Amino acid sequence: MTSRTSLLCMLLLGAGLVADAGASEPPHTHTPPTRVVDLRRLQPVSGDAVAGAGKATVCTACHGARGLSIAPEFPNLAGQSATYLYVQLKEFHEGQRVGAVMNGQAATLGDTDARDLASYYAAMPPKPAGRADAASRGAQLYLAGDPAKGIPPCQGCHGPDGAGPRPHASSAPQPPWAAFPRLRGQSGQYLAHELHDFKTGTRAGTSNAKVMQGVAATLDDEDVQALSAYLDTL
Ligand code: HEC
Ligand code: HEC
Repeated sequence: MTSRTSLLCMLLLGAGLVADAGASEPPHTHTPPTRVVDLRRLQPVSGDAVAGAGKATVCTACHGARGLSIAPEFPNLAGQSATYLYVQLKEFHEGQRVGAVMNGQAATLGDTDARDLASYYAAMPPKPAGRADAASRGAQLYLAGDPAKGIPPCQGCHGPDGAGPRPHASSAPQPPWAAFPRLRGQSGQYLAHELHDFKTGTRAGTSNAKVMQGVAATLDDEDVQALSAYLDTL
């Protein structure tokens, strides 16, 4: 795992995604500081959405022609943050994020492909608003958390409407939350699966995954169901 982590780290550094904390040190004294890929300083992701469309043919089999997936176990990609999508594709490529299907799909993707695909899906209109129950336990948890159980309000990081943090226009290094995902209109079944993976540590390995692992640890099965149902219909 350590060598994989450092390889991804090097790739992300090479791609200009992560600022190199040890840049001022001579290369031979620089050792990767941790086993967790640090995403705290991100570079803005720009790609060619038109080129991305041409590369997405194979993706439509599961993620749909408009980035809205054909089955609830596959995530919707339309309108998702480009930075987030890019980071995930790199993680699948390197095997940092584990998923048999996507590890295979991303195996041959180069850095430019990942940028183009991320830009293509980010520019698509997201799933239209549903009929979320604002009085449900899912809504309460999402907006206010449950302090008695240590559950933080999800909106603090994923936005009050679940649309994720607002994109940063500047070309300066991005804040860490530039790679926090949109949850609104995501498949509930997919979300429940990911929360389970964070909880068990199956989805781990980056500073962002570590943040979400801490959150997922506070949720029991009923909380996960309530939150997934709410977000699915938001
Ligand atoms: C055979 C079905 C299939 C195909 C084809 C496929 N995917 Fe996926 N994709 C999945 C599944 C399943 C997941 C969820 C993985 C997991 O378990 O975390 C996923 C997850 C993702 C995610 C993470 C989304 C998130 O919200 O974290 C991205 C990004 C993604 N796919 C992009 C692509 C791209 C780009 C292509 C084409 C190059 C592609 N996928 C092709 C099935 C597929
Ligand atoms: C302190 C910030 C923070 C809070 C609070 C938070 N999240 Fe997250 N969440 C993140 C980050 C960061 C990621 C991206 C993790 C990664 O890249 O692996 C994430 C990812 C997710 C994902 C995966 C989405 C996808 O497309 O694969 C789900 C599901 C999720 N969060 C649900 C929740 C729920 C439900 C709550 C409230 C109980 C919540 N989050 C609260 C920061 C947060």
